[in-house]
Amino acid sequence: MKTRILSTTENDIAEAAGIIQQGGLVAFPTETVYGLGADALNAEAVAKVYEAKGRPSDNPMIVHIARASDIGQLTPMLSEDIVNLIDNFWPGPLTMVLKKKAGVPDRTTGGLDTVAVRMPDSEAALELIREADCPIAAPSANISGRPSPTRAGDVIADMNGRIDAVIQGDDCRVGIESTVLDMTGDTPVILRPGIITAEDIEAVLKKEVKYDEALLKDKQGEDGDIRPKAPGMKYKHYAPKADMVVIEGQRDKVKAEIERLKGLNERLGSKVGVILFEEKAFVEAAHDFFAKLRDLDNEEVDLILAGALSDFDGVGFAVMNRMLKSAGYNIVKV
Ligand code: TXA
Ligand code: MG
Repeated sequence: MKTRILSTTENDIAEAAGIIQQGGLVAFPTETVYGLGADALNAEAVAKVYEAKGRPSDNPMIVHIARASDIGQLTPMLSEDIVNLIDNFWPGPLTMVLKKKAGVPDRTTGGLDTVAVRMPDSEAALELIREADCPIAAPSANISGRPSPTRAGDVIADMNGRIDAVIQGDDCRVGIESTVLDMTGDTPVILRPGIITAEDIEAVLKKEVKYDEALLKDKQGEDGDIRPKAPGMKYKHYAPKADMVVIEGQRDKVKAEIERLKGLNERLGSKVGVILFEEKAFVEAAHDFFAKLRDLDNEEVDLILAGALSDFDGVGFAVMNRMLKSAGYNIVKV
């Protein structure tokens, strides 16, 4: 299949929208990461997304809409809390898991009776959805298991020849995927941490927000055997081609250990890449993390040494969730 490279001009977005309407696949920029889109209400089109990504079919997709009023075709009832969250965070990197309407294909939701919905904060994405005139199901536009793509070039590296088109836009502003929040029970539960934190949500809802138990295991730096509520969180994820180790501890010690391990391994002929963010620069770390992994892969390093962030809360927690997974929970404590 020849993959068309499109821009964010009106003409090109109209063309991309036509591809979606005909059941094709288009990768497009969002503020978080690039998505691989298909008509969410067309089961055959959605099936092609799983194929192009090599994604397990029980892993449900996030459905993207361009107007809050489009949510009615996906879910039967909105609570005051849900409306509050929409008013405060949309468009933006908050995905809500809601009860699904019968019209949403099982293919889209991995057979669950819930549907994950978000309104992205990217003009190109919003225009594409409006032009296609249907909700767009879109997982991150990477081969399953690889780091999420935050730049058009990363998408093309993974998806060229596998999908109909890529809309080439700017690098993604946020850099990690949206916060996934389960709103089907009385207490909101974070299934995947993101740049919108539990605290941000609590400030709006004036009630406690919990974390899925499988995530709390992450906090302790362990690969838990608790089954996560977001099916996607259980797979091997974000893995670079190189071996990767996370070094965790007090910052000076982390730096020293990275230097020590780097010297040791380079002396033995290994090509070593280092990921060490500025202290407390959590938002920057979120923005750069996946791009760094892909750059180091392109440099063909053998080993990646990554310094753990000093904070396992809020945005720091969201980044650490990705870092630990990409290293396969390979941790050195100093
Ligand atoms: O920022 C993002 O969310 C990006 C951009 C493209 O919007 N999308 C994204 O999609 O990260 P994906 O497919 O890579 O991750 C979706 C996550 C998975 O962990 C999936 O299991 C979970 O959301 N999910 C989707 N629908 C769900 C549902 N009904 N119940 C529980 N978890 C769900
Ligand atoms: Mg993904």
